[in-house]
Amino acid sequence: MNVKKIVCIGAGYVGGPTMSVIAQKNPHIQVTVVDLNRDRIAAWNDLDLQKLPVYEPGLDQVVAEARGRNLFFSTDIEKAIDEADMIFISVNTPTKTYGKGKGQAADLKYIELCARQIAAIAKSEKIVVEKSTLPVRTAEALKSILDHTGNGVNFHVLSNPEFLAEGTAVQDLQNPDRVLIGGENEEAIRALVDIYSAWVPTEKIITTSLWSSELSKLVANAFLAQRVSSINAISELCEATGADVGEVAKAIGMDSRIGPKFLKASVGFGGSCFQKDILNLVYIARSYNLYAVADYWEQVIRMNDHQKERFADKIIKTLYNTVNGKNITLLGWAFKKDTNDTRESAAIYVADHLLDEEAFVTVYDPKVTAEQIYKDLDDLETRSPEENRRLVKVVQDPYEACDRAHAVAVLTEWDEFTAYYWQRIYDKMYKPAFLFDGRGLLNVQQLKEQGFMIYSIGR
Ligand code: UDX
Ligand code: ADP
Repeated sequence: MNVKKIVCIGAGYVGGPTMSVIAQKNPHIQVTVVDLNRDRIAAWNDLDLQKLPVYEPGLDQVVAEARGRNLFFSTDIEKAIDEADMIFISVNTPTKTYGKGKGQAADLKYIELCARQIAAIAKSEKIVVEKSTLPVRTAEALKSILDHTGNGVNFHVLSNPEFLAEGTAVQDLQNPDRVLIGGENEEAIRALVDIYSAWVPTEKIITTSLWSSELSKLVANAFLAQRVSSINAISELCEATGADVGEVAKAIGMDSRIGPKFLKASVGFGGSCFQKDILNLVYIARSYNLYAVADYWEQVIRMNDHQKERFADKIIKTLYNTVNGKNITLLGWAFKKDTNDTRESAAIYVADHLLDEEAFVTVYDPKVTAEQIYKDLDDLETRSPEENRRLVKVVQDPYEACDRAHAVAVLTEWDEFTAYYWQRIYDKMYKPAFLFDGRGLLNVQQLKEQGFMIYSIGR
């Protein structure tokens, strides 16, 4: 199977960067990324590279190199599917908000729609690659739809989960720890291995069964999230006992069996994957009556919810048990630094909790738009959109954001926060000037000396 044309359905945080790098590294293959969302495709095609819909360090250069050469963004889904030898499915798979599995299982309606569309259009043999995170055995459903609704052409389904982390997507794609390909058909697997071999050393490309590949993705994310919840659980214990979570993390991380990464205590993990994937794992375990397994993993999410709530409660308690009518400034809204993605960001839940207590919340984030911040709050449906706009102000300047604040809370670990002229912020705040560091980012000693009353998670 000689792949000359690739199409990727879904131009989001996974599809966009992944296909950009595949195109960059395989100039002989034509890569087209399609999406239903016209605005998104227009943004991917914008001549101003600052306007790409996904912010990732280094992505603009990759797009600049490949776009128009062998990388294209289009809304003509049918044409692209028809012409492609290989089809990546990279559409969103949110947690179900209705019916059986509500709040836990992945909603596969977008995947199914894609499968039906591919089946209807395809007139020649195609390799279909699952890129989105999917619950185990989705490939089976995909194959069944393709085979039963298609025009009798051959489909080979592969699972090729994406392990990139947002904020470091380009680096992760260009230098992956491993590439995982699950499948049954040797030739189809070889065709995908060849694409990655253009830049990934072969020993890092591993092939497995479909099911192992699908499950590995969920398990990788569950393990990572579990580490964060574990250190966050310890952060609370540290606060109660006077230990320092940073020191504990360093001490345990130097044990080579534990390792130093993913031990940063925080206000709670966010992102589109961790919670969704664990919920998926829990749902799958329950569906096999493995209740102890399900309860074990569910606890990782409970701990995370607790951490977000605990942080908001800490602010309220410290401000003499009431934030009603007080100005609370949130620095950071994205779920981590170097991304404009806000899905499941801890900031959303902390803000919601403070708004319940009728605080006035001001938000500053270097990359997230005001429109997105209001949308995140509106989507919770805790209060009306008008009320969200009355209580929440989004500003473009961090110093303006902290002007006349009763408290400032750091919710994302953006580098620029450490470089602020904090004395200037202090001078403009109400006293006592309370500072809450939800990322263990700031220099506590120095800020204390400047007069701040500072709380830093796990210290
Ligand atoms: C994750 C996985 O890392 C990636 O392999 C997978 O493909 C998708 O899900 P992502 O969600 O983009 O990637 O970011 P990640 O760096 O894993 O961070 C997730 C959340 O955990 C963030 O909110 C981050 O701030 C938080 N986190 C991470 C911590 O609180 N402490 C840590 O030590 C590490
Ligand atoms: P991810 O983080 O998994 O990339 P995103 O939500 O950022 O998720 O991107 C998924 C994209 O898939 C969205 O831009 C959405 O419009 C697109 N999409 C969903 N269903 C379809 C479909 N049937 N055809 C084309 N695009 C789709």
